[in-house]
Amino acid sequence: MKTFPQTFLWGGATAANQIEGAYLEDGKGLSTSDVQPQGVFGDVVERVPGDSGIKDIAIDFYHRYPEDISLFAEMGFNCLRVSIAWTRIFPNGDDATPNEAGLAYYDKLFDEMAKYNITPLVTLSHYEMPWALVKNYGGWGNRKVIGFFERYARTVFERYQSKVKLWLTFNEINMSLHAPMTGVGLPVDSSKAQVYQAIHHQLVASALAVKACHDIVAEGKIGNMLLGGLMYPLSCKPEDVFKTLQENRSWQFFGDVQCRGAYPGYILRYFRESGFTLEITDADREALKSTVDFISFSYYMTGCVTADEALNQKARGNILNMVPNPHLASSEWGWQIDPLGLRTLLNVLWDRYQKPLFIVENGLGAKDKVEADGSINDDYRISYLNDHLVQAREAIADGVELMGFTSWGPIDLVSASKAELSKRYGFIYVDRNDDGSGTLARSKKKSFGWYKEVIATRGASLKE
Ligand code: BG6
Repeated sequence: MKTFPQTFLWGGATAANQIEGAYLEDGKGLSTSDVQPQGVFGDVVERVPGDSGIKDIAIDFYHRYPEDISLFAEMGFNCLRVSIAWTRIFPNGDDATPNEAGLAYYDKLFDEMAKYNITPLVTLSHYEMPWALVKNYGGWGNRKVIGFFERYARTVFERYQSKVKLWLTFNEINMSLHAPMTGVGLPVDSSKAQVYQAIHHQLVASALAVKACHDIVAEGKIGNMLLGGLMYPLSCKPEDVFKTLQENRSWQFFGDVQCRGAYPGYILRYFRESGFTLEITDADREALKSTVDFISFSYYMTGCVTADEALNQKARGNILNMVPNPHLASSEWGWQIDPLGLRTLLNVLWDRYQKPLFIVENGLGAKDKVEADGSINDDYRISYLNDHLVQAREAIADGVELMGFTSWGPIDLVSASKAELSKRYGFIYVDRNDDGSGTLARSKKKSFGWYKEVIATRGASLKE
């Protein structure tokens, strides 16, 4: 089998706070992303009138979306992952009525995609929430936020039910364990018990959104979104292997709840032995039974796990704590490149859940060089994506049900971890630099034509 299935969804993935800009336009409220100028691990910096940050304009997708979508269409996309900024719809999170200007903006965006038969895949919350909900309620630590989120989700399901059939709840929901402000609106020094209570509220909210989607959106499908943090044992020492099982469960726990509808025994044991007494009501347990239709995930790298604490202390990874794999090369940002790991992960997820899978992020962040004639020869990006797509195709041949592939950042955007523009993922170059300089003009990289051909041939042009 050299081609991907006829129904395969091909495209790219973005997030509102990394592309839109227009951070206060048309009634939008401040989000947690707007107060983290240094990125998802950065400190909260309260906004003062007149200040500015790189995300305030980002790549100005808010105004330039018609041009960008026409370029995606030119590449042959039949799918585009975007997120709705919750703060465009409910600027403070607890507002009595939604903001019509915000709702109207996404109507225009989805209509533009429809012109080219591009299926929207929409994330309800991608690394942001209304800042007012953090200040006034304590973020997801407060049970009331479940209700605010459910109202937001119901509002957008009602509004876009005829335009959007594919939905995702929370982006990389397991990241809250590493970036609590970004994930659940809690300060970085929150205790693990507080973080897990907030995560519990978010898991209940995710399940309520699943139910709401099924109630409202005819033929709608809704998935979760995991950071696919696959770990290998550093050695075959039984202690390393068992520690790896536990490390993988730290992210699989989220999938287990969202796909199986209940808390697994291993996490209950962890809570018990850690002395955490979470408030989990009977109504919560009932709500959690609404499970997702499919599983989506991001995949960038793998890492290794060892039971040797001295080695662990030395290796503090970029996003997750992981020990480097001596067999793999790394990107300029230290992310280890492992195409075969994608095939392993797809098989692991399929074996565990038996639900359709969707790769909604994968790609290479790299510095690009613009040549004198304006061309950008990003062969490194082509080779990264080629090798990952080859492994995705192998996984399909293994029997995995894979719905689609949306590469991360099909157009250069602001990176999440450090709010950089120089970390580029796109097929489309955006003339904007880390210091904010640049014209915002778009141009095609070499990978633009490469991806276009991959889509046109349904993968037959990939090099083994
Ligand atoms: C994922 C996020 O973690 O990885 C995206 O869902 C993010 O928002 C992407 O941009 C790549 O990370 P970074 O830090 O290179 O932008």
